[in-house]
Amino acid sequence: MSATRRWYARIAPIYDLVCRPLYAGPRRAALRAMDLQVGHKVLEIGCGTGLNLPMMSAAVGTRGRVLGIDTTTEMLDRAEARLDRFDCDNVALYNGDIMAPPLAALKGILRKHMDTAHPDVILCSYLFAIAPGYKELFERAWQVLRPGGHFVMVDTQPFQGAWRLLNPLAVPIANWSGGGNVRRPTLELLSSLPLTEIETHLGGSVFVARTRKLGNMRLLDDYLPFS
Ligand SMILES: C[S@@+](CC[C@H](N)C(=O)[O-])C[C@H]1O[C@@H](n2cnc3c(N)ncnc32)[C@H](O)[C@@H]1O
Repeated sequence: MSATRRWYARIAPIYDLVCRPLYAGPRRAALRAMDLQVGHKVLEIGCGTGLNLPMMSAAVGTRGRVLGIDTTTEMLDRAEARLDRFDCDNVALYNGDIMAPPLAALKGILRKHMDTAHPDVILCSYLFAIAPGYKELFERAWQVLRPGGHFVMVDTQPFQGAWRLLNPLAVPIANWSGGGNVRRPTLELLSSLPLTEIETHLGGSVFVARTRKLGNMRLLDDYLPFS
């Protein structure tokens, strides 16, 4: 079991207690950024306890589909209970690592659960700061996103502006509690793409970024300054 999975299995029982109130505002902002339409097919990578799923389910309606993928069974168990409470019949969950199957197999999984291998919208919510291999993860999401589709990321970073004074204390706490690294240059990665819109919340410590896939544009080769 990976360190990330072990960590989220351990904190699953208290995840909602902390993350639901703390990130309610950015979650609503991410939902607005997704600009979901009735009938949309939406993928959330690392859906965790499913805090975003009922909102997405309601927005896409009965003709739409939502798929939440997550590696951690203990987080997904909570997501499943939430879906039952909200009667989210148009949402499916898949227990697995988005990076594990070969691309063709991943497309098969998407097709099975959402009737398409190319979602209209992909959401990564508090994933990139904690996921190992986050650049490859971004590339993978991009490969399956439908041309013209929206990629929305909401994530943590160090405080900005005057709030930066809190960083010597806040950054280690955020890294410890999330089991990741909030100093990863994820926002720079997205900013280098055309059509990226960004807003920040909570003293700049949370950002919501939306970008759109132009045509069949490839990510790593064409745009991103990856080393
Ligand atoms: C911080 S939680 C975020 C949960 C949810 N998106 C939210 O907004 O509250 C990150 C989740 O990503 C999952 N995760 C990490 N790496 C993953 C991967 N490669 N594939 C699928 N899920 C992953 C973890 O198991 C964890 O549940």
